[in-house]
Amino acid sequence: MPGPVSNVVAIDGPAGAGKSTIGKALAAKLGLEYLDTGAMYRAVTFCAMQRGLNLADTALIGELARSVTLEVGARGVFVDGLDATAAIRTPEVTAAVSQVAANSEVRAEMRERQRAWAATRGGGVIEGRDIGSVVFPDAELKLYLTASPRTRAERRVAEAGGDVDEIERSIAARDHHDSSRSDSPLVMPDGSIVVDTTGMGIAAVLAYIEGLMTSERAEQG
Ligand code: DC
Repeated sequence: MPGPVSNVVAIDGPAGAGKSTIGKALAAKLGLEYLDTGAMYRAVTFCAMQRGLNLADTALIGELARSVTLEVGARGVFVDGLDATAAIRTPEVTAAVSQVAANSEVRAEMRERQRAWAATRGGGVIEGRDIGSVVFPDAELKLYLTASPRTRAERRVAEAGGDVDEIERSIAARDHHDSSRSDSPLVMPDGSIVVDTTGMGIAAVLAYIEGLMTSERAEQG
């Protein structure tokens, strides 16, 4: 297993809190690469559904996670070489992904791939649900982004359309599943800085985080 990697910014939080938008912008500012780990869980879920596998068969889905070729990056998401960038975002995959993300065999494999990704690049901005708590507990900076359930649902509607009440319910169900699973549940990691983005635009959130980083650096002398 690769050792601790410096230069890791870990961003965790519930669905729709702004992790991807902020993560990408922060990575660009810091000159680091960005990794969306949710896309990895989505890609495994998509691949399993496409092959008609039983998602409840943890050993089978674990084996799939270990054998599938995944590429998650600026070019998009590729599953065994095929472009699945849009296919991993369908409501069907979104509804099923929490079940796959609760599978410990899948998590163990994704965790190792995420650590290897960062080791190869000398760090990065990495976004997910267990990044500051489990995957990179020694990250230089840990952010926990959140926002009110309504705000999060409204952001999803602005991005992809849909009924706001229905989306708020489905986000709440997924958050509950992700926060209550036994393996690496969504938590506020020790040492994380909580940023509530309700009522804040992207520029304001970024400015706030940059301010935090500047004052942390000043404190460290
Ligand atoms: O961020 P997202 O909505 O694309 O994530 C999809 C799912 O993957 C989410 O419901 C929880 C899960 N996930 C996880 O369990 N651990 C991560 N590090 C990232 C995502």
